[in-house]
Amino acid sequence: MCGIVGYVGRENAREIIIDGLKRLEYRGYDSAGIAVVQNGKILLRKHVGGIANLENLIGDDPMTSGTGIGHTRWATHGAPSDLNAHPHLNGDGTIAVVHNGIIENYVELKEMLVRDHGVVFRSETDTEVIAHLIGVHYNGDLENAVYEAVSEMRGAYAISVIAAAEPEKIVAVRKDAPLIAGLGQGCNFIASDIPALLKYVKEIYLIENNEMVVLTPDSVKIYDENRQEVHRDVFHVTWDADAAEKEGYDHFMLKEIYEQPKGLYETLTRRLNEDGTIKLDGISMTKEEIEGFTKIYIVACGTAYHAGLVGKYIIEKLAKVPVEVDVASEFRYRDPFVDDKTLFIAISQSGETLDTLAALREAKRKGARVLSVVNVVGSSVARESDDVFYTWAGPEIAVASTKAYTTQLMCMYLIGLHMGYVRGTINREYYDQFIADLMTIPDKLKDCLAKNAGIIEGLSKMLYNKEQVFFIGRGLDSSVSYEGSLKLKEISYINSFAIAAGELKHGTIALMEPGTLVVTLATQDFLYEKMLSNIQEVKARGAHVLSIAKEGNTAIEAHSNEVIYIPACRDEITPLLSVVPLQLFAYYVAKERGCNIDKPKNLAKSVTVE
Ligand code: AGP
Repeated sequence: MCGIVGYVGRENAREIIIDGLKRLEYRGYDSAGIAVVQNGKILLRKHVGGIANLENLIGDDPMTSGTGIGHTRWATHGAPSDLNAHPHLNGDGTIAVVHNGIIENYVELKEMLVRDHGVVFRSETDTEVIAHLIGVHYNGDLENAVYEAVSEMRGAYAISVIAAAEPEKIVAVRKDAPLIAGLGQGCNFIASDIPALLKYVKEIYLIENNEMVVLTPDSVKIYDENRQEVHRDVFHVTWDADAAEKEGYDHFMLKEIYEQPKGLYETLTRRLNEDGTIKLDGISMTKEEIEGFTKIYIVACGTAYHAGLVGKYIIEKLAKVPVEVDVASEFRYRDPFVDDKTLFIAISQSGETLDTLAALREAKRKGARVLSVVNVVGSSVARESDDVFYTWAGPEIAVASTKAYTTQLMCMYLIGLHMGYVRGTINREYYDQFIADLMTIPDKLKDCLAKNAGIIEGLSKMLYNKEQVFFIGRGLDSSVSYEGSLKLKEISYINSFAIAAGELKHGTIALMEPGTLVVTLATQDFLYEKMLSNIQEVKARGAHVLSIAKEGNTAIEAHSNEVIYIPACRDEITPLLSVVPLQLFAYYVAKERGCNIDKPKNLAKSVTVE
């Protein structure tokens, strides 16, 4: 997610914009830049890395101007670099653009600009296309040029634009990416969200989809897509800066739990072609290679490893290739059997986990083809892989991973479906139906959150003092129970652990005491009766049973103290839903225990040591 800040007024834009960008640092970014209008020219400064790098680049130059735009970049197209940083300029450098989002048809627009207008591109980004597109339409009327340009663009974007010939103006447009206008005295602001402006204004306009906003020092006007001016009520901001960064949520973790429907929607839909088939931008694996794999390793750490456990079930079921899942810190020391018929899948949110990177290098050394599932564009794991399947979760700030996990799962399904279809182990009808079922998940997840969050918060007030918690399940539920246990232990510090439900009786049940909390996952229809037996096993020994089941499977109530229901769906995709009550349970228990939820003790967001 990129950050946008713009200012037009009588103060010096540079200080205000840089200050605003610093208030967006929490969103995560890899480069930053600023452009101002000065003496009929655009002055541009941008640099890879943190805002401190940008400030060092600017040095003592006051960049004196009352009009400017700034940007912190979260790379989606093109690795982090000075050239790929925003703002981007048109050919003659008279127009500057900052952008948050993705232009889905940027390749065809880029080809048209080169072919028909002789444009020479400087960067690998989709954003630079916007700058040139506005440039070719510009004839002294910035609003009109921007309207013409966005009418040719497809995708999600919030853009802000300045022109050298119109020094006291910023034009911005919003489509499926956040944008707000701040209302000052003799000055006005544009930004991607509230924290950037909170120091200066408390009155804002919330810009709606397909709207253009034109800012001058003394006016802010909003127009709809038919270029008709629209009225907008002023929104009075009551949040303090800390609350604003979390958009009103108490913690980043809770915000990111609620961002999962959007992350899953983005990760799925951006991977689908118009005809509904899976789009493999950035994946160069050939049909022959996919047909030739005799073994797949999925290697990762922590939550990413747990996503691999689900991936094993799914890819084996769909693509009929043996899959072995391993923790990265073990894989590289056991002289694994790897050859040129092996596909090595590395999963990593940060793309910087050294254990995972080291395992990837070992697999490459042994001849494997490497596919990585990564959330951070241009990260080390991504750069060292043959192919990268990016999750579109956006920056994940909380140490405890939530939206990265579910979007990693979505990638496992897409990889399994694609490989199965290519290898002929599933037919088109099954493939289409499976994708259609996946398409229902974002709304089902919203429904699951709406129905269960309050119930789980209430349960946490009763169960937060448990000192020992088991998580049990069978099949895919077993895989998800490992993730549920990790969430609870890493933010509430309760000693929890997961075990396959069928394995409990082979020793571990000796630990069972009256009142021990057992979280049981029973979402797999074909294993439901087996799970009911396991639940009775622990209930008979005094356990307190909290069950997770599909809506309608009410028989489980007779053997549980409480039941959390998830929306019904096909067995294979329940992990996308069943993990969320476990995330919420961990969150509310940790909150009851007064723990530091976003930054738990002893933990780092990315473990870059072995
Ligand atoms: C998960 O909640 C933890 N923060 C941790 O287990 C994490 O998943 C693990 O360190 C792997 O990180 P990565 O996905 O960035 O490689």
